[in-house]
Amino acid sequence: MTDDVPKIELHLHLEGAAPPAFIKGLAQEKSIRLDGVFSENGSYAFTGFEQFLRTYEAATSVLKTPEDYARLTRAVLEQSAEQGVIYTEAFLSPDFCGGRDVGAWREYLAAMQEAAAGMRNEAGIVLRGVVTCIRHFGPEKARETALCAAETAGDFITGFGIAGDEMAGKPADFAYSFDMAREAGLELTAHAGEWGGASSVRDALRDLKPTRIGHGVQVIDDPVLVDHLIETGVTLEVCPGSNIALGVYPSWDKHPIETLRSAGVRVTVSTDDPPFFHTTLRREYDRLADTFGWDDEIVREVNRTAAQAAFCDPETRAELLLKLESTA
Ligand code: ADE
Ligand code: ZN
Repeated sequence: MTDDVPKIELHLHLEGAAPPAFIKGLAQEKSIRLDGVFSENGSYAFTGFEQFLRTYEAATSVLKTPEDYARLTRAVLEQSAEQGVIYTEAFLSPDFCGGRDVGAWREYLAAMQEAAAGMRNEAGIVLRGVVTCIRHFGPEKARETALCAAETAGDFITGFGIAGDEMAGKPADFAYSFDMAREAGLELTAHAGEWGGASSVRDALRDLKPTRIGHGVQVIDDPVLVDHLIETGVTLEVCPGSNIALGVYPSWDKHPIETLRSAGVRVTVSTDDPPFFHTTLRREYDRLADTFGWDDEIVREVNRTAAQAAFCDPETRAELLLKLESTA
């Protein structure tokens, strides 16, 4: 079954992957009150996207030191390795890691990188970081974030992106930040077409020139744009369980991932913020198998697409592709 196929995850927010018990434990250790973050059954509490963002930021407020982020990195990578993930890219936010101060960011980064190296030895999972600005924090903070990214671009920080409220501002407001990241040699991705429709993807492609789009699923409403994605090979980081949990689509059978994939769009599968959406990468693939009949060959093809679109060096990419083929 799909469990035999090694998985490559390209769209995972580090804080969004924090198990609720981990955040609760840190809050207790630090005597921080987290009102409204958890429901009675212990899961994250929110309804709708705006409240999701507020809960996410409130939960993140307990992560205050590089050591907290080292512990978080270990917890998240353990969780991913259990899901059969061999390579993952995590969105990392200088906004939460030292308030966009480059010196502080370097300390957080060193802690995360060391934790990742440990997990690579223990579980064989590889992590790369995609520094991410947060759209609703505005373009000025995004420039500071891009500076953190540019100053630390290298073997571990390989990408730059934008997340947050897609309805805040427009992609052009962030073009300067994306230019700075591109000039530093970083690869680019942008959340778009989750909430802002196909036109938001068009704008992001034109103004930010990313090679990948986070979500992007709403392009389904614009056949000309779908053709453009096929021609240019832009890869979509699709997170179906997230879309359904947040109400972008009402149910799995209404999700456009299979229509996009079978049309020839380069789609990959990720979990976004798995504990928030009561999902895991295995669960995503199980639902895709149940709903659309995805078999091992399709799962392998989707993960091959992910390996090809990964923000990594050629040697790492070759290793990932080899692992995918050798388990076939
Ligand atoms: N940050 C964390 N998850 C997100 C999502 N699904 N969309 C935008 N920003 C996010
Ligand atoms: Zn996301």
